[in-house]
Amino acid sequence: MQQRPVRVPDLKERKRRGEKIAMLTAYDAMTARLLDRTGVDALLVGDSLGMVVLGYDTTVSVTMADMIHHTRAVVRGTKRALVVADMPFLSYQVSTAEAVRNAGRLLQEGGAAAVKLEGGRPMLDVVKRLVDVGIPVMGHLGLLPQSVHQMGGFVRQATTPEQADALIADAHALEDAGAFAIVLESIPSEVARAATAHVTIPTIGIGAGPDCDGQILVSHDMLGLFDGFVPPFVRTYANLADTIVTAGQEYVADVRAGRYPAPPQPARQATSDVR
Ligand code: KIV
Repeated sequence: MQQRPVRVPDLKERKRRGEKIAMLTAYDAMTARLLDRTGVDALLVGDSLGMVVLGYDTTVSVTMADMIHHTRAVVRGTKRALVVADMPFLSYQVSTAEAVRNAGRLLQEGGAAAVKLEGGRPMLDVVKRLVDVGIPVMGHLGLLPQSVHQMGGFVRQATTPEQADALIADAHALEDAGAFAIVLESIPSEVARAATAHVTIPTIGIGAGPDCDGQILVSHDMLGLFDGFVPPFVRTYANLADTIVTAGQEYVADVRAGRYPAPPQPARQATSDVR
C-alpha cells in the first residue's frame, strides 16, 4: 500500500499500471479516520450525505453549507486518502462563475483536493473552467442522482445503443475537458467496459460491472448501516444497523432492570490501613 498521501495524478497512474482503484464515501471525521486506515485510495464526501446521514429521500436538498461542513470533518479525519467533495445540486449549473466560486469553496473552506459534478457534454464549459483555474474535477455519468425527477427515479441508464453511444461520447468529452476520473453509475457492464477502454482517465464504477478501473460504494450501504433501499449490486461487508439496534436494546434493558450503572463496589482498603 502506498504510504504517502494519494494525489490526483496517482489515480491516472494506477490506470496506466492496471491497478484497481478503491473508493468509498465518508461524511464525518471518525468514519474517515477508520476508513483511511483501510488503504482506500480516495474518500468521496458524496451528496448521498443527504440520504444516508441527513434523512432526505434524494440528494436534491443538499446545500453548499452541508457539503462544506461535512467535507471539513472528513478532511480532519483523513491523512492518506484523496478527499473528493461532491458539488451539490444548483452549485454548478447556474453559471460558470458560480461553479468556480462554489468549487473553490469546497477546496478553500472544506479542504478537499478535488470536486465531483454530474453530467457530460452540457457541463463541459464548467469542467474546463474549473480545471483551468486549478480545481481537479471528477465527472459522473450514467445514473445522475441530482436528476432523479427527470429520470423518473433511480433508474438504470444507457440501456439502449443510442444512450450507450451518448455516454461514451460524454466520457470522451469529459476527458478532453480535463476531468481526471469519471464515476459511472448504474449502467450495463458492456457500456462501462467500452467507456473504460475509450478513455485514458480512470473510470470508477458503482453498479457498472467489474471492468471499470476502480469501484466506489456508499460506505453506509457496504457497512449495512442504512435501513432504506440498498441497490442490488451492493455487497454488504458488515451489518452495523443490527449491531447498533442490538446494543441499544441491551442498554435499554440494563437501565430498566437497574443493571446499568453497576452498583458501586466497596472501596478496597489500602494495605497500610490493614496493618
Ligand atoms: O454521492 C455519492 O455518494 C455518489 C456516489 C454514488 C458515487 O455520487
